[in-house]
Amino acid sequence: MGQIGEMKAAVISLGSISSQWKIAAMKNYFDIVDSLSVRNIEVNLGLSGGIVLHSGEQLKEYDCVYLKGSFRYAALLHSIATCLIGKTYLPIHPHAYILGHDKLLTQLKLQQANVPMPTTYIASIETSKEILQKITYPIVLKFPHGTQGKGVMFADSFSSASSMFDALSSIKQPFIIQEYVECNESDIRAIVVGDKVVASMKRKAVRGEKRANIHAGGRGESCQLDDYAKKIAVKAAQAVGAEISGVDILESTKGPLVIEVNVSPGIQGITSATNIDVADEIAKYLARKTKERQTTKTNKTNAKSNNESENALLSLGIPDVGITKHIYTELDMKNKRIMLPSSVTELSKFTKGTDVTISARQGEIVIMEGDKKEYKKA
Ligand SMILES: Nc1ncnc2c1ncn2[C@@H]1O[C@H](COP(=O)(O)OP(=O)(O)O)[C@@H](O)[C@H]1O
Ligand SMILES: [Mg+2]
Repeated sequence: MGQIGEMKAAVISLGSISSQWKIAAMKNYFDIVDSLSVRNIEVNLGLSGGIVLHSGEQLKEYDCVYLKGSFRYAALLHSIATCLIGKTYLPIHPHAYILGHDKLLTQLKLQQANVPMPTTYIASIETSKEILQKITYPIVLKFPHGTQGKGVMFADSFSSASSMFDALSSIKQPFIIQEYVECNESDIRAIVVGDKVVASMKRKAVRGEKRANIHAGGRGESCQLDDYAKKIAVKAAQAVGAEISGVDILESTKGPLVIEVNVSPGIQGITSATNIDVADEIAKYLARKTKERQTTKTNKTNAKSNNESENALLSLGIPDVGITKHIYTELDMKNKRIMLPSSVTELSKFTKGTDVTISARQGEIVIMEGDKKEYKKA
């Protein structure tokens, strides 16, 4: 690693405008910010352990690696993060790339974490058909890997769901069935950074459209979330393992319901809708966490080396002052007072009147210069 206190970061991404904004903001806080393309990364597994290469060269050492990419790269992002975890600060946990890019697994994880969500059905093709027959309409069918609203289909009745079902089963695509949440064709996008919602906007679908995604023509405007909705957004992000994410929420009559945790959220739309410098919020957070990790690491290393030598010496009952000699002998006593061999006196350099702490328990006596009561609690 470079100079002490120097902070080096890498953003491994597809190079979108959002990523460029984040990189530019990070340059205000980090000494070095390398922008690497996820397309040029490979992960080598084998006897030498998992190695991450960029353009054929081993990835440099970084204090922070922020990995982003679309669902097509989920397995690669997961692999890179798995190889780097513990070696650098990663704001996104490796498993978040798998969970966040799969709506089925996201809903499952949210359920485990007790995050409120629309009623969702995950079933085999055969059982899905039965569910479609008995469910209350309208409903939503979703491809687990869809993004930007592209894998989301709405059905008003069994007849429309049935034809969608036939099309989906003929192309052997798994899908999830979800209750349609009435919320005026709008949703909330909240950017969660750490344990805070740093920006939120309400997205309203264009006329004739149900999907509120900006890519589907939706318009975003700044909105304020109440504390409960903020708490739900943060809880959803944490359940997936992402310290930076875009959480999609439907505002239902039952309260906020989470439908998606996006681990590589775009920030252009929300930045212009809210006038909040989202890139700066993210960069500031990454720098703070990286610094914190460096400090804990230094403290731990110092504490470890101190502790290691201290513990080794303490186990002998002797502070670090030269080589310890062991004398095997028969104890001499006078009037219940222990008489130590003179060689011990010489080794210790103790003289009459030296202030010492004598610690004793069954089978052990330790004499140390000074007041060392805090050393041995035993
Ligand atoms: N259960 C639902 N009820 C009502 N609208 C929904 C529901 N699920 C999704 N939508 C609408 O469709 C959009 C896209 O859904 P989402 O699950 O976020 O997938 P994507 O990854 O494609 O953004 C949402 O922003 C919302 O407007
Ligand atoms: Mg979405």
